[in-house]
Amino acid sequence: MQQLLAPVKEFLACETPDSWIAAAKEDHRLAELLIDHCNCELKAAQTAMFLVRKYAVDKQSGEQLLIWAKPYEEFVYRNDRDMAAFLAREVKKNELIGELTPRAGFTHGPELIAKMIRLIKEEFHHFEQVLELMLARNIPYSNIRAGRYAKGMMKHVRTHEPATLIDKLIVGAFIEARSCERFAKLAPWLDDELKRFYISLLRSEARHYQDYLSLAEAIAGEDISARVAYFAEVEAELILASDDEFRFHSGAPL
Ligand SMILES: [Fe+2]
Ligand SMILES: [Fe+2]
Repeated sequence: MQQLLAPVKEFLACETPDSWIAAAKEDHRLAELLIDHCNCELKAAQTAMFLVRKYAVDKQSGEQLLIWAKPYEEFVYRNDRDMAAFLAREVKKNELIGELTPRAGFTHGPELIAKMIRLIKEEFHHFEQVLELMLARNIPYSNIRAGRYAKGMMKHVRTHEPATLIDKLIVGAFIEARSCERFAKLAPWLDDELKRFYISLLRSEARHYQDYLSLAEAIAGEDISARVAYFAEVEAELILASDDEFRFHSGAPL
């Protein structure tokens, strides 16, 4: 586990503040934490899917991706949602049907598709895993407003290509790395079931961070360390500054 975490910690400019852990381990936070975590897993899948659709595949493949996401989106966007029925559904559970066709003219398209499709599949799976834990604990799903974290980084994304894509990939790397660091730091304070689950997530989240970062490097075709350092600072500021909202990626609680 330490081996897995070492590069993640080195990549991030700060550790999660102890005050966030102290708040997160309080019993009354558990429902909020799991609901936001669940939201984040879906968001992670949707964000990656958006990147694949926008940059890497043809129109028909884009439609196939939307079909894959549909049951998840239908579940979260309806008010009379039934968690048990959703989790018990049988038809093509978490499956992309058919092959995707890379869009012509984007050299790194196939690499982006391969890495992001695996990531999307894992994030949908994590979404279902969190939902299962919530169902067992009688915590209903709800769509809560996202915190300031991802937005706080996205507003620094440059507005011309390929810089936009490169920055979005770097932001993706930070979100994944922070999730990984937070899961590891919070796990010892949770009950056994959640502890095991959070530790089981570390490996894939560490890989997601590496995948985003290596895609950003490959697509840039030049050294991106200055840009990475810039976002490291923005990210650390969001994590260390006090935050009046509690979320999975919130800053130090007020
Ligand atoms: Fe995940
Ligand atoms: Fe992830």
